[in-house]
Amino acid sequence: MSSLGAMGVKRVTAPEGVRATALLTAYARAQETARPDRLFDDPWARLFIAEATAFTGAGLPRIGMARDDKVSPLWAAFSSYFTLRTPFYDEHILRAVAAGARQVVLVAASMDTRPYRLALPPDTTVFELDNASVLDFKDAVLSRHHARASCRRVPIGVDLRADWSGDLLAAGFRPGEPVVWVAEGLLMYLTTGDSERLLAAVTAQSRGRAWLLTEYPERVVDEATMTSRATDEAERVSAMMMANLVRRGPDTEPAPWVARHGWTAEVTDIAAETRRHGRPVPDVFDHGAPDRVGVWLLSATR
Ligand SMILES: C[S@@+](CC[C@H](N)C(=O)[O-])C[C@H]1O[C@@H](n2cnc3c(N)ncnc32)[C@H](O)[C@@H]1O
Repeated sequence: MSSLGAMGVKRVTAPEGVRATALLTAYARAQETARPDRLFDDPWARLFIAEATAFTGAGLPRIGMARDDKVSPLWAAFSSYFTLRTPFYDEHILRAVAAGARQVVLVAASMDTRPYRLALPPDTTVFELDNASVLDFKDAVLSRHHARASCRRVPIGVDLRADWSGDLLAAGFRPGEPVVWVAEGLLMYLTTGDSERLLAAVTAQSRGRAWLLTEYPERVVDEATMTSRATDEAERVSAMMMANLVRRGPDTEPAPWVARHGWTAEVTDIAAETRRHGRPVPDVFDHGAPDRVGVWLLSATR
């Protein structure tokens, strides 16, 4: 839903349902940005949270499991995961751009502000795919705060379970030219069939040099794993809602999964990325935890 506000700027409602997960990742990036030893700087992340919640105070308002008081093992695990995957994607995108990619496709772009914060070359085009209402909210906030991207940015509202290739081509995407596909924090919201169709569509549009960056958990993160780390009712409800949103994603390990579509993958995981940056690994990602969830991060080429 959208309408025109007092200043003539389009006002839009905050994302809901699976779209609301966009706010959780932004929340983690806002918290990271506030740290003196931050791994990246995303000044827009806090604005998305403030505008979605009409919050005008200091710090960040609580949103379900997302909280700024360091008391929750549940949020510590989620925010660590959202934060520590970010440098992995940043570094691989910059490497692909240095190697000649001038097209970046953010598949489930959500509140990702890489066109604003990565200093991508001006001749780069970043195509952003997500639900139209999510992109409308993002665009409204960015334009209200006069954010300026270093490169060309093209938001495209789509359902990623449907055939979105035509929309991407109509927006100026060139399948024969080098491209880096970024599907960050998406596959766990798709069924195995939808993940398969997504990879087939990405592959069909990768006729030149191509890079694919994505991640997914080794197993479905079930309700018990999530709720056992909740410290109060609001967190428990939030954890149950999240558990209801997640799906299987790909049903195969990363290297063989992408190999079936002609890609060669290098694979790491979230615990290794967390250690690489000298941060503590939340118990749920650690090998000792009985209900451990490994999360693979992969960088593939073809
Ligand atoms: C957890 S968010 C994070 C994504 C973002 N790359 C990030 O790391 O901040 C997941 C996003 O996937 C989008 N999404 C999930 N399923 C989708 C679908 N079927 N079509 C379009 N967008 C979808 C949601 O709207 C949401 O913005």
